[in-house]
Amino acid sequence: MTILVTGGAGFIGSNFVYHMLGKYSDYKILCVDCLTYAGNMSTLAEAMKNPNFKFFKTNICDRKAIYEIFETEKPDVVVNFAAESHVDRSIDNPEVFLQTNILGTQVLMDACRKYGITRYHQVSTDEVYGDLPLDRPDLFFTEETPIHTSSPYSASKASADLLVQAYNRTFGLPVTISRCSNNYGSYHFPEKLIPLMIVNALNDKPLPVYGEGLNVRDWLYVEDHCKAIDLIIHKGHVGEVYNIGGHNEMRNIDIVKIICKALDKPESLITYVTDRKGHDMRYAIDPTKIHDELGWLPETKFADGIQKTIQWYLDNKGWWETIISGEYQNYYEKMYGNR
Ligand code: NAD
Ligand code: DAU
Repeated sequence: MTILVTGGAGFIGSNFVYHMLGKYSDYKILCVDCLTYAGNMSTLAEAMKNPNFKFFKTNICDRKAIYEIFETEKPDVVVNFAAESHVDRSIDNPEVFLQTNILGTQVLMDACRKYGITRYHQVSTDEVYGDLPLDRPDLFFTEETPIHTSSPYSASKASADLLVQAYNRTFGLPVTISRCSNNYGSYHFPEKLIPLMIVNALNDKPLPVYGEGLNVRDWLYVEDHCKAIDLIIHKGHVGEVYNIGGHNEMRNIDIVKIICKALDKPESLITYVTDRKGHDMRYAIDPTKIHDELGWLPETKFADGIQKTIQWYLDNKGWWETIISGEYQNYYEKMYGNR
């Protein structure tokens, strides 16, 4: 089996590449990634030594280059992780989100139609459902929850999902979609909450919490997400959407305090800053369908996963120090300078 993974130099895509290479020694894994600020070849250094792995520095919007890869490599399955993924950046500049997340998805699916595949899997997000109120803990996102987006990022992901479903209905493309909650783990770019707080705390810098820190996210260890996608591409039913999440809801402020405690840093580093525009209050996934149909359950408890994650950032300082020493400084100043 040949699996083409897009966005494999990013956070979840790289974890998926390592999961697949480790589990299936007879599979060929192709990675297409154009290496935006979020893509990092050092993340894939070990994979590059594996003869079953091949990397293409290619933009998923580049139709000609994508068609050439399909023509020569003949993938059986495509798993599309490639995306602009950060909500704050989408508020600052939506355009590239629409290009990559919507039009890039279309190019990939056109290639799938032209050259033939057995499965196209779209890695989507729980953010397509919008948010839930804090005073209704009984409510969860199911696969039937209406799409109701808040940010340019989530709107672009929802648009892609609609396009994927349209390609299934109109052209019979064999698709599946997964909508996962917030991931955490190794290789997470330090613009997102958990790695940003770990890196800032290690550098004794302020920990910028948006608003009052009461927003709730449903955190899942990245390897559990990868295992769920592995199951869906092998056993999931064509045309179906699967929600992925582990009933692990936490307030942002509580996560930041856990990180302070684990690193023995004072909570006085916590700084409340201006809230994100259109900030979603609460995400909470109901994962009943993937559990009942495919037998998936999360394996890593948050208490263990966050310790492993913090340890990974302690053990891999070179990885994130290189990132925060470059263009990241301009980003940080722009996002947090006057907040
Ligand atoms: P990321 O930002 O860490 O990585 C994205 C990767 O895609 C990078 O390697 C980047 O270089 C690549 N990329 C971006 N634009 C590209 C293009 N035009 N052509 C080729 N490659 C391109 O993102 P992530 O957090 O790993 O998220 C991966 C996917 O999972 C995204 O589709 C995201 O919407 C989805 N998702 C993320 C989370 C989460 O908590 N991080 C949760 C649910 C779903
Ligand atoms: O739910 C899945 C989504 O999770 C994915 O689709 C996105 O790609 C991914 O980035 C993530 O989106 P969030 O907006 O939830 O993640 P982020 O890490 O940016 O923020 C998590 C929460 O922390 C959110 O309520 C905003 C808050 N926050 C974030 C940052 C970066 C802060 O309080 N301070 C910060 O500096």
